[in-house]
Amino acid sequence: MVTEEELITQLNKSCLPRHVAIIMDGNGRWALARGLERIFGHQAGMESLREVVKLCVELGIQVLTVYAFSTENWKRSRLEVDFLMGLLIKYLYQEIDELCANKVKIKILGNFEKFTTEVQAAINMAIEKSQSNNGLNFNIALNYGGRFEIVEATKVMAQKVASGRLAIEEINEVLFADHLYTAGQPDPDLLIRPAGDFRVSNFLLWQIAYTEFWFTEVKWPDFRRIHFLQALIDFQNRERRFGG
Ligand code: FPP
Repeated sequence: MVTEEELITQLNKSCLPRHVAIIMDGNGRWALARGLERIFGHQAGMESLREVVKLCVELGIQVLTVYAFSTENWKRSRLEVDFLMGLLIKYLYQEIDELCANKVKIKILGNFEKFTTEVQAAINMAIEKSQSNNGLNFNIALNYGGRFEIVEATKVMAQKVASGRLAIEEINEVLFADHLYTAGQPDPDLLIRPAGDFRVSNFLLWQIAYTEFWFTEVKWPDFRRIHFLQALIDFQNRERRFGG
């Protein structure tokens, strides 16, 4: 098997994606394959997340976005939803000091008002503590849905038009993007989806117009630095034409 050192030598550090997005998939299947309950897959997936964030910091990547909880994930069992929320709280309180030491700035993509006050407190703490950091922009998509995001942006622009603060002629792609959670950030250059499925699952629908996709059979709890590096190298070997 290829080593991390070999992969690092293949990587062109001057040509990294500015924004990497990840659909952290396969936690449930990882656990079931080991005779464990699904929640243990999420727990194991935390370690993968820690590794990837650390690597993004080391490489100087500008933006990392992870899909932690979708608008559809509410359909899961109460136990699983509560467990995921507990993990999020634990992650934020445990990691915030190290994240801040590494200048990581946390942003939430999604409407988190629906979460319990305990979850909201953890999120607000992390946002506040990290707000002046100027390193990696770490977006955590929570109660996020791409269609919902687009509809919400449309509503805000429609309200501005209705109240005379915006002219219809002023609406263009740049203005639209400015009304999304990712306003001001570059679109993802690379989207990684582990666990063998080839779909987008309502993730960053507007932002991925020209994103390169990278898929692997490896399930998220087994996803390690070597997989991330492999994705970066494959990305660097692609020719991006942006429709041109
Ligand atoms: C998808 O796997 C994963 C999720 C819905 C949750 C991802 C959450 C984590 C990795 C926990 C750590 C994250 C934070 C921010 C604390 P799945 O359950 O759909 O897997 P399956 O397709 O095998 O069932």
